[in-house]
Amino acid sequence: MTSTSHDRLLIIDFGSQVTQLIARRLRELNVYCEIHPYQNVTDAFLADFAPKAIIFSGGPDSVMRSGSPRPPQSAYTLGVPILGICYGQQVMMHDLGGRVEAGEHATAEFGRAYVTPSDAHVDLLAGWFLDGSGKEQVWMSHGDHVAEIAPGFEVYGTSPGAPFAITADTSRHFYAVQFHPEVHHTPNGATLYENFVKLAGFIGDWTMGAYREEMIAKIREQVGDRKVICALSGGVDSSVTGILLHEAIGDQLTCVFVDHGLLRLNEAEQVVAMFRDNYNLNLIHADESDLFLGELEGVSDPETKRKIIGRLFIDVFQKYADTIEGAEFLAQGTLYPDVIESVSFSGGPSVTIKSHHNVGGLPEKMGLKLVEPLRELFKDEVRALGHELGLPASFIGRHPFPGPGLAIRCPGEITRDKLEILRKADAVYIDQIRKHGLYDEIWQAFAAILPMRTVGVMGDGRTYDYALALRAVTSVDGMTADYYPFSHDFLSETSTRIINEVKGVNRVFYDCTSKPPGTIELE
Ligand code: XMP
Repeated sequence: MTSTSHDRLLIIDFGSQVTQLIARRLRELNVYCEIHPYQNVTDAFLADFAPKAIIFSGGPDSVMRSGSPRPPQSAYTLGVPILGICYGQQVMMHDLGGRVEAGEHATAEFGRAYVTPSDAHVDLLAGWFLDGSGKEQVWMSHGDHVAEIAPGFEVYGTSPGAPFAITADTSRHFYAVQFHPEVHHTPNGATLYENFVKLAGFIGDWTMGAYREEMIAKIREQVGDRKVICALSGGVDSSVTGILLHEAIGDQLTCVFVDHGLLRLNEAEQVVAMFRDNYNLNLIHADESDLFLGELEGVSDPETKRKIIGRLFIDVFQKYADTIEGAEFLAQGTLYPDVIESVSFSGGPSVTIKSHHNVGGLPEKMGLKLVEPLRELFKDEVRALGHELGLPASFIGRHPFPGPGLAIRCPGEITRDKLEILRKADAVYIDQIRKHGLYDEIWQAFAAILPMRTVGVMGDGRTYDYALALRAVTSVDGMTADYYPFSHDFLSETSTRIINEVKGVNRVFYDCTSKPPGTIELE
């Protein structure tokens, strides 16, 4: 839990797939909120957290099952507004004296549904049912349904499968809906959250400017006059972390930029120049490309490559960090989704598809304490903070780039020659995307060099050169992705440019695999 001075809203997570979206909708309203799994929300936790309002999320369980998730009963006596969503509605009804029926006796609803209002007015629905159709589209996903509402509640909206789609006890400010207002497919859902936080008395003071000031004060308080080191990758998260710390503690911060020789064309120079010239921060440019490329020589197994890079990164970082006398803290750009994932009650151990590269494990090994100023932010909030800190828009909007860099875009053995070809081809491809004004529409785009040569003909001569794969995807979070539908003209122009401008490539493929079944990177 944080010690923010803002009014805060508590989201009790009962395991819905879309709980994070509730937090998104609230943050968009400049309301500070935290998601906590229901098991952690005890009476003592609630008293300490002192929420100004509570939201019960949806969830996959049935309230009729003994041992199914519940909020602490003190939630109902705190005297703060509560909004229950889907399973959250059913829990609220069940706990307060209503009745829920199991799926087999009820009309299950999954997907689009329409609610119509009752005659009674409730502030929660201000701005609803105004388009003349007399109904609102909502997204349902429930098997069980409320069969009898709890004493004190009234019905304010009904859908064909949910006679109690919208209910409220306005005297206690308890509201409960069967549908999911947080999802995109409930088009007017954001209004419902806006109404809820308004009637709970939030003033919407969670802004990036305020966050920046608070974080700077917090960092100063945590660090005092001691020293901090920060691993800078050139990506948005580590850059924003570094700059925020620099603002807070100036020279007490040293950033280490580990150049593993697997960066894109001119990338190392650009990153170093940006930080040295614009921010004047202590920066060690650790050019360790010989070490990394040496150890990767002859290695073609993707996991072995990742493990080597991860291990060397930690060794190298430690070597440079040891030169900074008295460093007691390590700054890391951990984001809120990482924090939620690590505490989520529903997120059991999942299969490792790829071992991701990060600096986890370093703090214990080196006896360092962590400074994580982005722990409360979502990715787009980090971008907004970067903007607030004066990072150039072109930098903030850059596509994600993986820690292992070009190594995982070079399936098979990595050689300096292949990396050279890949860097040039990737630069041409990205240049094409920018020239055609497509960069911001695409979530991530890159070239990969394939582990094969093919025969071609150029200028009446035979060529036997590398084949290149181009990848471009749209995505929201990198968890799922779709390939970007370039026009044929774009693809043929780009292929021609790459083959003409990059020696060593004579064939270009476009990767039209979505994720799943593919992953975004090739390894
Ligand atoms: P995949 O290939 O798993 O990638 O579909 C999803 C997103 O994660 C990035 N990625 C990484 N980022 N360290 C990172 O920092 C890694 O080891 C790593 N592997 C993949 C990838 O670029 C995409 O954005």
